[in-house]
Amino acid sequence: MNILCVCLGNICRSPAAEGILRNLAIQKDLDIMVDSAGTGGWHIGDHPDRRSIEICKKHNIDITHLISRKVNEKDGKEFDLILCMDYSNIESTKAIIAPEFHHKIQLFDEREVGDPYYGMYDGFENMFLQLEKAAHCWLEKIKPDLV
Ligand code: 4NP
Repeated sequence: MNILCVCLGNICRSPAAEGILRNLAIQKDLDIMVDSAGTGGWHIGDHPDRRSIEICKKHNIDITHLISRKVNEKDGKEFDLILCMDYSNIESTKAIIAPEFHHKIQLFDEREVGDPYYGMYDGFENMFLQLEKAAHCWLEKIKPDLV
C-alpha cells in the first residue's frame, strides 16, 4: 500500500503526516510506503519547517531528511491513497492528477488540518496531535486490506 500525504507547501503539515504515518506503520509492522508532496511549488527542494521538525522530534520522529516536492500527474497512478490536509489541497490535487484517480483523494482527518505556517508554535502542537490521531484511524482502517 502506497500513501501520499498532501498539503500546500510540503514543509509543515504533510512532512509531519508522512513521518507520523511511517513511524506508526513500522511500530505496527504494516507494509506501507509513505511519501508527501505539496500542491504549490515555492518550497521545492527545501527541508521541512524547523517547527515541524521540532514537534516531530519531541515525539521521537525524525523528519529532518525529507525534501519538499510538488504533486505531479504520476502520483495518481503510483499511490493507492492520497490524503490531503484541507479542501483546497483536494481541489488543487484534482487539477493535477487524472480524473480516473480522483477516488483515491481524501481528507486526512474528518476536519481540515489547518495551515500552521503563519501562526505560533502551539499551532504545530495542535497539528501534530490532530495528525497523530487521524493517522491511527487510517492504519486501523486499512489494516484488513494489507493481509
Ligand atoms: P504547509 O504550510 O502547506 O503545511 O507546508 C505552508 C508552508 C508554506 C506556505 C504555505 C503553507 N507558503 O506559502 O510558503
